[in-house]
Amino acid sequence: MMRRRSFLKSSLLGSGALLDTPTALSAPAAKASPQFPKGFLWGAATASYQVEGAWNADGKGESIWDRFAHTPGKIRDGSTGDVACDQYRRFHEDISIMKRLNLKSYRFSTSWPRVQPSGRGAVNAKGLDYYSRLVDALLEAGIRPFCTLYHWDLPQALEDLGGWPNRDLADYFADFAAVLARRLGDRLTVWAPFNMPWTFTRNGYGGTSLPPGRNDLGLALKAAHTVNLAQGNAFRAIKAASPKATVGSAYGTEPMYPKTNSEADRAAAARCHAFRNLYFLNTAMHGDYSKAAFPGEIPYEAMGFREGDGSTMKVPLDWIGIHYYLRLLVSAVPTAKAPAGASIDPLAGIRIELANEGPRTDGGLEVWPAAFYDLLMQFTRGYSSPVLEITETGCAYNDAPDAGGRIADQRRIAFYRDHLKQLARAMADGAKVRAYHAWTLLDNFEWQHGYANRMGLTYVDFATQRRTIKDSGCWYGRVAATNRVQE
Ligand code: FCB
Repeated sequence: MMRRRSFLKSSLLGSGALLDTPTALSAPAAKASPQFPKGFLWGAATASYQVEGAWNADGKGESIWDRFAHTPGKIRDGSTGDVACDQYRRFHEDISIMKRLNLKSYRFSTSWPRVQPSGRGAVNAKGLDYYSRLVDALLEAGIRPFCTLYHWDLPQALEDLGGWPNRDLADYFADFAAVLARRLGDRLTVWAPFNMPWTFTRNGYGGTSLPPGRNDLGLALKAAHTVNLAQGNAFRAIKAASPKATVGSAYGTEPMYPKTNSEADRAAAARCHAFRNLYFLNTAMHGDYSKAAFPGEIPYEAMGFREGDGSTMKVPLDWIGIHYYLRLLVSAVPTAKAPAGASIDPLAGIRIELANEGPRTDGGLEVWPAAFYDLLMQFTRGYSSPVLEITETGCAYNDAPDAGGRIADQRRIAFYRDHLKQLARAMADGAKVRAYHAWTLLDNFEWQHGYANRMGLTYVDFATQRRTIKDSGCWYGRVAATNRVQE
């Protein structure tokens, strides 16, 4: 209790420091074979639409991802998540794989339309029961269940009411959170309301790559504001239903490096960090938007901000969950060159590029483990050493079974080994990380890429649903068993 209070207090005082940008573009090599502390939680993460399948089974309603994937041309390989890994029916088999990998934490997400087919009101007992059975089976296997309430599959019925830009969704989401917390909260204590809120509000409402693809930056600002309200509401609803609950986050975070050492580029990188990485964290901690995220005034009106919203958004998150996939290079560009609609886009005046000095995964992302260290230290310093959970890191490598059926995915082993060394280094330097979730347990439906990107520790033959643990899965299992990074 004492520890939590001091974290919350210092988090409010210390958050300004996060505006500093990391200075080093590379870092010294980490020591070999670091040992992790006793009780460290080795885990894996998945998301409902990416693994469950059973898209219309047992009374489940349609989600925006069902609608999007069923629309020709939206998914790269023309596939859908209708069946995915069929985890809805095969979760016992998947939990036995987790056991073989010695996992101690499983981060899954709940499908809102499976639990409430139209997003509000009537609860679908069979859908809710599924998650209860999943939690029981995980606990029986000695695995901590970690629930992300929302990993992008909004009920289509709520999108038909305007989707996240409609602030009524903040209340519907609180009801959904309460339904889950009442049913699971006697056994499950770790909750994250949203996965990557910046990504699904910005790209789903301000762009076209994710559903609903409304392509309007004004709507993105409104959607993000509703999500900030919903995060606060969900926090309170979960705590009210389950006294044991702890509520944190699962934010997508990217270390931002100024492209040059110029003052303008450094300022641009700091703004980009405040905008993309902290947009939902600082509002929870402070109950207000940070000026540091915007090039000019805070666009309260465009967000649909109302009096009293500050106290709705303000909740003392118990821990911070972050993902790391990539680093970005940020530079300032004259505001005059910003694209149309930029007056309400805080990204105006900032240019962002993917760095590409390192090797690439088959998914095209640069591999740069040292930035993971920088990111962890940035959060550690910025919020006075909060409790951190790594909610996702991972890589796409499309290695196929060899003639003997073995998947020798050496590049994935190297990826995890190098990232875990940086994690150990950050922990030695004070980062209070208590859990690490690999993305992902199984090859699965990788959103707009369909099944083209394989990111699992386990290979899935989607024609037969046969699972085969990859060499990387065996390696990760040894890490989990020994608490030590294996060479
Ligand atoms: C993250 C998502 C996750 C998965 C990985 C590769 O952005 O949270 O669902 O797709 O990327």
